[in-house]
Amino acid sequence: MSVADTNVLADQASRTARPPLLTIRGVKTYYGNIVALKGVDLDIYEGEIVTIIGANGAGKSTLMMTIFGNPRAREGTITFAGRDITRVPTHEIARMSIAQSPEGRRIFPRMSVFENLQMGASINNAAHFDEDLERVCTIFPRLKERLHQRGGTLSGGEQQMLAIARALMSRPRLLLLDEPSLGLAPLVVKQIFDVIRELNKRDGMTVFLVEQNAYHALKLAHRGYVMVTGTITLSGTGQELLSNPQVRAAYLEGGRH
Ligand SMILES: Nc1ncnc2c1ncn2[C@@H]1O[C@H](COP(=O)(O)OP(=O)(O)OP(=O)(O)O)[C@@H](O)[C@H]1O
Ligand SMILES: [Mg+2]
Repeated sequence: MSVADTNVLADQASRTARPPLLTIRGVKTYYGNIVALKGVDLDIYEGEIVTIIGANGAGKSTLMMTIFGNPRAREGTITFAGRDITRVPTHEIARMSIAQSPEGRRIFPRMSVFENLQMGASINNAAHFDEDLERVCTIFPRLKERLHQRGGTLSGGEQQMLAIARALMSRPRLLLLDEPSLGLAPLVVKQIFDVIRELNKRDGMTVFLVEQNAYHALKLAHRGYVMVTGTITLSGTGQELLSNPQVRAAYLEGGRH
C-alpha cells in the first residue's frame, strides 16, 4: 500500500469518526413564493475544500447566503460545530468563526484597503490584528503596497484579493468563497486558487467554494457537489466529478478552463 493510499484511508477514517463541521439537511429557501433551494443536503468536514458547481441561477449563492441566515432557510437545519444555527441571527453567525467573501466582492469602496481589513478583524479579536495584517499582506503583497488606497479604486482582481483578505482577518474556521475567480485574468485566478490550497494545507482551513469555473474548482477541491435548479444532483470527490460524463458534458466541455 502506498503512502498516498494510507493517507486516503486515514482521511476516510477521520471523516467517519468525527461529525462534519457543517451539516445542511433538507434546506429549503424561498424568495417570496419562489423556491430557490428545494431541500439541500450537504456536509463539510474539518480540513476539507468542498466546492459546489452549477449553472447560473442554480442556487449556489443562495445556499452560501442561507448558511449566514440571509435569506433564512424556511425548512431544514444547518448545524455548525455541533450547534444548530438555522435560526441564529446573521451578526451572531459572523462571530462564530465563519467568514465569507460574497459574490461581487462587496468591499467598502470609500474605505481604504487598511480600513476594509480592520472591518474584517473587528468582528473577532483585535488582539492579533498586527499579526493577521502581516499574514494577509504576505499572501497578497499587492494589498500591502496599496493599504491607503480607497477600496473602490482597486482593480477588479485587487478587490477580489481584498475581499478574501478581509474574510481571512477574522481567522475563520470555515471560509465561504463565492466565485473568487469571476471576471479575473487567468494568472490572478491561479494566484487565488494557490492561496486557497495553501491556506487549507498549511493552516488546515476548511473552505466551501462556489464556482462556475468547474475545472479549476474540481481540481482544487477534495469533494464537490453539483447543483441544478435548487437541488443537489451529484456528489463525489473532485476527481470523480471531473471524470463523470454528465459533469464533463454540462460543465467542462468547451467550458472556461
Ligand atoms: N433577492 C432575490 N430575489 C428574488 N429572487 C432571487 C434573489 N436572489 C436570487 N434569486 C433567484 O434565485 C435563483 C438562484 O439564484 P442564485 O443567485 O443563488 O444562483 P447562482 O447559482 O449563485 O447563480 P450564478 O452562477 O449566476 O451566480 C435564481 O433564479 C435567482 O433569480
Ligand atoms: Mg451566484
